[in-house]
Amino acid sequence: MQTQIQQISAVAPEENIIQQAGAILRGGGLVAFPTETVYGLGADALQPAAAKKIYAAKGRPSDNPLIIHIAKIAALEKITAEIPPQALALAEAFWPGPLTMIFKKSDAVPYETTGGLDTVAVRLPSHAVAVKLIEAAGGYVAAPSANASGRPSPTMAARVFEDLNGKIPMILDGGAVGIGIESTIVDVSGITKNADGTWDVGQLPMILRPGFITKEMLARVIGEIRTDPGLSPETDMRPKAPGMKYRHYAPKADMKIVQGDAPAVVEFINERTKAARQQGKKVGVLCCEETADAYRTDLRRCLGSRQDEAAIARHLYEALRDMDDAGAEEIFAEDFSALQLGEAIMNRLLKAAAHQVITL
Ligand code: TXA
Ligand code: MG
Repeated sequence: MQTQIQQISAVAPEENIIQQAGAILRGGGLVAFPTETVYGLGADALQPAAAKKIYAAKGRPSDNPLIIHIAKIAALEKITAEIPPQALALAEAFWPGPLTMIFKKSDAVPYETTGGLDTVAVRLPSHAVAVKLIEAAGGYVAAPSANASGRPSPTMAARVFEDLNGKIPMILDGGAVGIGIESTIVDVSGITKNADGTWDVGQLPMILRPGFITKEMLARVIGEIRTDPGLSPETDMRPKAPGMKYRHYAPKADMKIVQGDAPAVVEFINERTKAARQQGKKVGVLCCEETADAYRTDLRRCLGSRQDEAAIARHLYEALRDMDDAGAEEIFAEDFSALQLGEAIMNRLLKAAAHQVITL
């Protein structure tokens, strides 16, 4: 299959291109498109055969469910069994935007889309191309990140092409994305409706994947909220989101996170670089603007200033892919847990590093 890369305006998407891509989706085909978080690989969520094609193109395990993308809040009705008031409050506060919620599913949603689960993940993205495409496709687009399973999520069309060339007919290229890490996932399916119409918080809303919308931001809207204990590196519990259990976002190099005072971290990494170089190994560092000049590594990728957390999130995945391209064999990364986005950034970094942390 020939993969066509189609340029499209991120602010005013050309209608003829949207219609062409929408027709592919309605016909049961796949289209990759930009969202504000990362590029997604879309299929009509209500056609079982179309959803199945996503798994084949990505090489994704079939038990890993897909997020259904919608273009308006009212579209929730058809695909969910119940919409708890807390979910509506979160939708009003953060949609369109980088928040995904897990609901009990309705019969309209095929099990091919939910990986066999009775719940469904739903997100209303803010990117104009995504919104227009969802409308043109009939309102319900299943879309995982548009990477080959196991690779870092793509933040630009060229990376989608790298992973999926020959496997999908079209990539809409709307330029680099703004956020760069996937949406925050919140499970609200533990809140159930009683026969008398009141609601029972059987289980508190729970964060299944940290993201750009932080726990504090969510708590300001709905009060108490938990984080899936299965996400902690120190537990044997399985994460509740099936996708969080896979080693993910991984560069090919052996990666380690180094924690400690900035000068000690710099010194440690420089010394390790010298030693590795003597063995003929190429070493890379993922760092911030404040320390970048102090490193003597072969490769250096500065994610941004610690004063600009969004930049660090936005550049993370591209830096990991870039390290692969540059042939890094060993990567050291600074620790970013002190940031407000620290939970989201470290969740990805720890996975990329297979949880290898050096504490000085
Ligand atoms: O920002 C995003 O969410 C991007 C863009 C394209 O919208 N999409 C994305 O999709 O990150 P994906 O497939 O790469 O990640 C979806 C995650 C997986 O970890 C999956 O296991 C989880 O959501 N998930 C989906 N449905 C679920 C469900 N019913 N219950 C629990 N977890 C679910
Ligand atoms: Mg993904």
